[in-house]
Amino acid sequence: MKAKGAMIQSVRGVKDVLPSESLKWRLVEETASEIFTLYNFKEIRIPTFEKTEVFKRSIGETTDIVEKEMYTFTDRGGESLTLRPEGTASIVRAYVENGLYNPPGVTKLFYMGPMFRAERPQAGRFRQFHQIGAEVFGTDDPAIDAEVIIMLMDLFTELRVPGLKVLLNSLGCPECRPAFRDALYTFLKERASDLCKNCQSRIERNPLRALDCKSPTCKEIVENAPTIDEYRCDSCETHFNNVRKPLIDLEIPVTVDPKLMRGLDYYSRTAFEVVSEGLGAQNSVAGGGRYDSLVEQFGGPKTPAIGFALGIERLISLLNGQDEEELTEYPDIFIVPMTETASLRSFEIAHRLRSYGYQVDRTFGTASMKSMMKKADRSKARYTLIIGEDELKKGTGTLRNMSSGEQIETSFDDIADILDEEPHP
Ligand code: HAM
Repeated sequence: MKAKGAMIQSVRGVKDVLPSESLKWRLVEETASEIFTLYNFKEIRIPTFEKTEVFKRSIGETTDIVEKEMYTFTDRGGESLTLRPEGTASIVRAYVENGLYNPPGVTKLFYMGPMFRAERPQAGRFRQFHQIGAEVFGTDDPAIDAEVIIMLMDLFTELRVPGLKVLLNSLGCPECRPAFRDALYTFLKERASDLCKNCQSRIERNPLRALDCKSPTCKEIVENAPTIDEYRCDSCETHFNNVRKPLIDLEIPVTVDPKLMRGLDYYSRTAFEVVSEGLGAQNSVAGGGRYDSLVEQFGGPKTPAIGFALGIERLISLLNGQDEEELTEYPDIFIVPMTETASLRSFEIAHRLRSYGYQVDRTFGTASMKSMMKKADRSKARYTLIIGEDELKKGTGTLRNMSSGEQIETSFDDIADILDEEPHP
């Protein structure tokens, strides 16, 4: 066929999820819902865009996300809006706006959907990507820190993702972080001329950001920088130990990494990432941590909180070893009506079988018997029902078992029973 117009390509850094992959997406999303429900999490659905302030205030003015990666636009009313680069900020906004802290107690929420960051696209890094996240409000008990990490690892185990480990750190609290920040500031200041332009400009406002810088020289410099573990207060240290203990008891592969710094500013105490050996440079499948002051920052009551988000694209790339065939559900029956009257009758037959829960497909248009049977074959259906003019008068069709090749003439009323006798392999 000659094309009439020029093809329009999708935007760089975004991708289509085609039917050949969408089953894996559904498997991931459904498994996450099931596992999270076992832990009594409830789903929340939040808008895809928010007032820009929501993200600026929480993620932090000096982070890469806010400085250079947000899709921010002015809407027709002159208001600055932003496509969400992550979910936590919106969830906190929703938690406060909807008074979810009433009645007081622990609130466990999960969400999934697209996020947007104008990062340089590369393998495993997209500009529209998808996250599944979970957030817990209302307790600073280290047991919940451990529980969310266990829940996340349960999901990976259920999905049979190999080679994952948890990198764990505690970033301290408003009590102990200032001393660490000062030490880091002094360290960086002495080496300022060797740091990248970005880190140089951030030193005064937020020296911690240098720990997360991707520039190779900065990475090398901060290798020898002071680490938070030398500064943590007793209360943070005890909290951290109590997060680790249940993880060790359950044999979750945890490595304490005092250098782990997250790319968002709102964290305090627990911070973690789940990394994979199989992912190359973008090896972080999930990340999360505690953000005990964020609810207050959004005008809510003092409410400790913790959560994580995983990247669906990265997780799916780790499922690639899994068999697509295994996930695909093929039709139970494929109808081949040979005439127009047979085609009309097919509606009723197909409708009834679908109402019993069978997957039914059919041919459309007219073609030779041979080409119709080819279509039936390609559909990978268990059975094909061929309806010719003579049979139609008798209320029967030819039912062909596609794996054995065996054919029988059967009344339309008996088809459901036959399908039922031999469930799909
Ligand atoms: P994050 O580490 O920025 O954390 O993102 C979490 C996960 O999203 C990453 O581990 C990665 O799998 C995926 N991801 C991030 N950026 C991209 C990208 N450009 N392309 C593909 N995948 C990406 C957060 O977003 C926090 N909100 C997590 C959290 C929840 N902390 C507390 N609660």
